[in-house]
Amino acid sequence: MEEFIVTPYEVKGEVDYEALIEKFGTSRITEELIGRIKKHTKDIHFMLRRKIFYSHRDLDWILDEYEKGNAFYLYTGRGPSGPVHLGHLMPWIFTKWLQDKFKVKLIFQMTDDEKFLFKHDLTLDQTNRYAYENALDVIALGFDKDKTEIIVDTEYIHNLYRIALMVAKKINFSLVKAVFGFNQSTNVGLLFFTSMQSAPAFLESYRKKKKVPCLIPCAIDQDPHFRITRDVAPSLGFPKPALIHCKFFPSLAGADKMSASVPSSSIYTTDTVEVARKKVMNAFTGGKPTVKEQREEGGNPRICAVFNYLAYFFEEDDKKLLEREKMCLAGELLCGECKNYLADKIARFLEDHQKKREKAKNVLEEFIVRDCDSK
Ligand code: TYM
Repeated sequence: MEEFIVTPYEVKGEVDYEALIEKFGTSRITEELIGRIKKHTKDIHFMLRRKIFYSHRDLDWILDEYEKGNAFYLYTGRGPSGPVHLGHLMPWIFTKWLQDKFKVKLIFQMTDDEKFLFKHDLTLDQTNRYAYENALDVIALGFDKDKTEIIVDTEYIHNLYRIALMVAKKINFSLVKAVFGFNQSTNVGLLFFTSMQSAPAFLESYRKKKKVPCLIPCAIDQDPHFRITRDVAPSLGFPKPALIHCKFFPSLAGADKMSASVPSSSIYTTDTVEVARKKVMNAFTGGKPTVKEQREEGGNPRICAVFNYLAYFFEEDDKKLLEREKMCLAGELLCGECKNYLADKIARFLEDHQKKREKAKNVLEEFIVRDCDSK
């Protein structure tokens, strides 16, 4: 198989998720672990059932502590470099499910500093503005106002900086160079940045002056930051944060991850229904070149972006998904029909999300916590 790369700064090639578990040293989510979760949640989110959330670190420990009465908090985030696409929503939808089921607090970090440092063409004002734009998408998903704090790095820096400094003192250049592939021309801000992304993983322990477990849901690309966070945790007297990792929501163009830098391959939450429909109609499918061949030989749902969109996001009903897969394989479905089915589902989702996003403007300030003046 061709080489692939997964870091927080670059995802390239066809990702072998099983190989990634070995490479990163994470653990597979087993049926037994899912059974343990179900004891508390009663039902199981389809992203867990389908192993879209497939890997973890110390999730069993999080459950041990929870069962002992030591509840965890959730921590996740966004690098605000532009509009949010459907892929970003995946870990957040799952995080919201965890918040609802376990009734726990969430700290959501907006790394306006990171994206300013990483994206040559963005000013700090722009990334800060995107932090607020993107927060509307987060709020639109329905997080509990009383249990959710959104922090924007440049505006919560007083609290984060002390922890980030403690972390930074434990990290040297050769480590971040090896983990992230940095080189002599990487700006020094990025060398420091892992310390900033680590800070919220210790924030509740720091505030409460006791060991509060932290669970981080994210896609597997963010794991390298948190490997470092976990390595330094014991020497700072903090518990290691646990993680639950998802695979990437696929691109409309085929196997790669949905990427914000290729607009036609991603659907943004701010896309109009017409634009989204057009993107779906141009999507890569597992169909055959002619109707005749499709009828005779069937399609290939495994490589089909339209089918994967349904499996990862838009078709929660396992029976309906399986039925569609069978019909496709048997040549009973043509790609046009599937595309229309998906486009209708996306249209309904976008209309609803965009309404909630508008309403979120009224409560935005209630979610944001600051210790510095906002712009
Ligand atoms: P960012 O903005 O690149 O991504 C936000 C979240 O979305 C996940 N993600 C995806 N998930 C599924 N399919 C995709 N195609 C896809 N692309 C991105 C990311 O893994 C992430 O969970 N540095 C971070 C921001 C951050 C953060 C955190 C993320 C700060 N603290 C704690 C997770 C946990 C970033 O730039 O994410």
